[in-house]
Amino acid sequence: MGSSVLRIGCSFILCCLGLGGQTTASIVTIRGTSQLRGTIEYAINSTKPIQVFRAVPYAKPPVDAMRFKAPEDVEWWNGERNASGASPICPQQGMSSPLMKEDCLTLDIYTPTIDVNASLAIQIWIHGGAFKDGSSSEFQGIAMATYENVIFISINYRLGILGFLTSNSSEAPGNQGLWDQRQAFMWVKENIKPFGGDPNKITISGESAGSIAVSAHILSPKTEGLFEQAISQSGTATAAARVSLMKQELPKTQLLAQTIEVAPTFMYRFAHRPSSSTRQQWASAGHADEIQYTQGDPFVNHGSGSYTENEKILSGQIMRYWANFIKSGSPNSEDTPLQWSRFDCKEKGYLNIEQDGKFTSQKDYNVDRMFAWAETIPKLDSFRKNNQTTWKCDSTDTSRGATLFSFNIQCVLLMVLVDLISWL
Ligand SMILES: *[C@@H]1O[C@H](CO)[C@@H](O)[C@H](O)[C@H]1NC(C)=O
Ligand SMILES: *[C@@H]1O[C@H](CO)[C@@H](O)[C@H](O)[C@H]1NC(C)=O
Ligand SMILES: *[C@@H]1O[C@H](CO)[C@@H](O)[C@H](O)[C@H]1NC(C)=O
Ligand SMILES: *[C@@H]1O[C@H](CO)[C@@H](O)[C@H](O)[C@H]1NC(C)=O
Ligand SMILES: *[C@@H]1O[C@H](CO)[C@@H](O)[C@H](O)[C@H]1NC(C)=O
Repeated sequence: MGSSVLRIGCSFILCCLGLGGQTTASIVTIRGTSQLRGTIEYAINSTKPIQVFRAVPYAKPPVDAMRFKAPEDVEWWNGERNASGASPICPQQGMSSPLMKEDCLTLDIYTPTIDVNASLAIQIWIHGGAFKDGSSSEFQGIAMATYENVIFISINYRLGILGFLTSNSSEAPGNQGLWDQRQAFMWVKENIKPFGGDPNKITISGESAGSIAVSAHILSPKTEGLFEQAISQSGTATAAARVSLMKQELPKTQLLAQTIEVAPTFMYRFAHRPSSSTRQQWASAGHADEIQYTQGDPFVNHGSGSYTENEKILSGQIMRYWANFIKSGSPNSEDTPLQWSRFDCKEKGYLNIEQDGKFTSQKDYNVDRMFAWAETIPKLDSFRKNNQTTWKCDSTDTSRGATLFSFNIQCVLLMVLVDLISWL
């Protein structure tokens, strides 16, 4: 009798701690001797335990003599390492946090299982922030792991001067931040199996600067073979490289176009203005507004905004499209709301995620503005070549509308993307 009371008491406590699911954190062993102890976390109202391993080092600390150098393989440890603490934040301006330190080359893993034979598809996330701010911990994969059975991995990489200064010599060869990303991809490929992952089903993804990096990796031979697929959310290498090397012709632009012709490519436009947006009512979606839906913020406690029922549905549908793509190379399945057609350079079809959160099929996005990119701006480039004046980056001149805005973004990137072209 006494013992059954005790049992009821215990199961009640377990229930409170973890909504009835698994409560003890798992230990994963990598390479025979190095162990990581994670934590268990849950999406809101979910009983499915997600194993989370934070601040997992994927390279040697890039400090002292290794500052400004390409990263080196991590030193493996013996025994258990605590992977339940907070992730570090790479040094950046305008941030004061005890977590900020140069020893920041870590990644965070969110997985629904640690069955070595599970062979789950993997999404690697590269955060944005103009290559000068941001951190892995801003983006979490609890919802993707819970509802889509995908392993989500968010990575840190060096930023700003530490990540991108180049002296065009061995002291600071340049693109340290991109080498870091490559090192993280290699770590995932070599070590993800005991976390339930399939090392041959890796999709790299990112937003803004993260998306520019994704597109640089697609084009670069340096990361060939380290991933199978890519998701680019707002940003391409050609946009940045165009300005960082204005004087150099960029055959990679054609290469990217060819990639799009050869590999199945799906394009979307996100136009839903979040209900929690502080922008004017007439404004549509802004830069980065889609991330909260692609990573399922309505379903997790770390999510920032508050969400309407329609937005929860929208986020669920977007995650399903993304996860289908990550698993199979096609975003479509029987339960997705609309057939999303492949992009090709003739039809230029894309999925439009409308203001009201509904999906429609559209073609030929913004023909007029594309004309500006395809025709007007190349002319400006050649104008510049023949005339040694510098391009004026004047944010107060609104007469040029969207085109000028894009130039402003690129001018910001110009400061840190010292040598992107050598990556390609
Ligand atoms: C692991 O790290 C977390 C966060 O720093 C801490 O709360 C916890 O006590 C540590 N666990 C062990 C076993 O050291
Ligand atoms: C994984 O699969 C292998 C080969 O089929 C098998 O020998 C092994 O027992 C499996 N491991 C687990 C944990 O299921
Ligand atoms: C970098 O150095 C190489 C020789 O080591 C030289 O060919 C190249 O022009 C240099 N690039 C720049 C941008 O100075
Ligand atoms: C969680 O459950 C509560 C109670 O049923 C409900 O009000 C809430 O909307 C649910 N939240 C999510 C994100 O499903
Ligand atoms: C060079 O640029 C100036 C404006 O900065 C312009 O007035 C001039 O006509 C240009 N010259 C040529 C040869 O295009």
